[in-house]
Amino acid sequence: MNFPQRRMRRLRRTPALRRLVAEHRLHPSDFIAPLFVREGIDEPRPIVSMPGQFQHTRQSLRAEVAELHTLGIGAVVLFGVPEHKDHAGSQAWDPDGIVQAALADLRSDFGDGIVLIADLCMDEYTDHGHCGVLDSRGGVDNDTTLEIYARIALAQATAGADIVAPSGMMDGQVGAIRGALDGSGFTQTAILAYSAKYATALYGPFRDAVDVTIAGGGDRRTYQQDVAGAREALEEIRLDLAEGADMVMVKPALAFLDVISEARRTFDVPVAAYHVSGEYSMVCAAAERGWLDGDAVAHEHVLAIRRAGADVVLTYFARRLAEAMQ
Ligand code: PBG
Repeated sequence: MNFPQRRMRRLRRTPALRRLVAEHRLHPSDFIAPLFVREGIDEPRPIVSMPGQFQHTRQSLRAEVAELHTLGIGAVVLFGVPEHKDHAGSQAWDPDGIVQAALADLRSDFGDGIVLIADLCMDEYTDHGHCGVLDSRGGVDNDTTLEIYARIALAQATAGADIVAPSGMMDGQVGAIRGALDGSGFTQTAILAYSAKYATALYGPFRDAVDVTIAGGGDRRTYQQDVAGAREALEEIRLDLAEGADMVMVKPALAFLDVISEARRTFDVPVAAYHVSGEYSMVCAAAERGWLDGDAVAHEHVLAIRRAGADVVLTYFARRLAEAMQ
């Protein structure tokens, strides 16, 4: 029998045809670059487990953001490494704390030209490495931590953050932060909630980047989500939206594409995904050995995250990918 064969290869024949019918394309404005700024150093320090990433000085951060801005990157998210850590993480909300100082620098350099996001958490600032304050039994005290998050939000908003991004996974954190911001006139400061954040081994290299060790070999399983579940992520997102989140995040990204795609289908707000340190370092390590083409794999991974439904991607590859797109 002679039936017409469906010729799937016709539209794959040339690069121009493939470009024309591509369902997704990456653009630098889809990327949020995570950046680290460290207090009390004179030179940027390379982060060994994250090749190409640095703990910046205030000065080198300004230079880095200038380059990212020129490349068309949409936003940066800042993480601070203070010189002194303490039990209550007080440098996180100190008006002169390192992230507050860096936000003010960048606001004065770039005006409203690039979106400034501040990660809002305590683990980089506490001597025990947890994302909240401890109670008398060494557990993380949810509601006392919320009071501190509110103070951090005000310090970051005052310093010039467009968006604060609570990443500590305390119950009620978005509501507490929204209330504090509105109560002090920061009604235009947006909240990007790390809503569905999982307790995963993929954050390993990040803890080197911010010099965090959790006291007593502890972990974050009493506040971050269990990797075995996806339904709970939707409930976390629903709660954060009810409390006033403007954007929501799924983290990590590649290992949770199912959650990203479900979140995209279920909610009508911008969905961000965090392509985390471990996902970055694995590709770098294999590329260093010549086992794969790192740039090509990075492109495919970020494309997969967008295909799953993320509107914006936090990725350490932001700069490399944007450079390749110029
Ligand atoms: C907590 C925070 C972490 C990351 C972002 N914010 C670490 C953690 O929860 O242990 C991880 C990011 C990455 O791995 O790239 N403030």
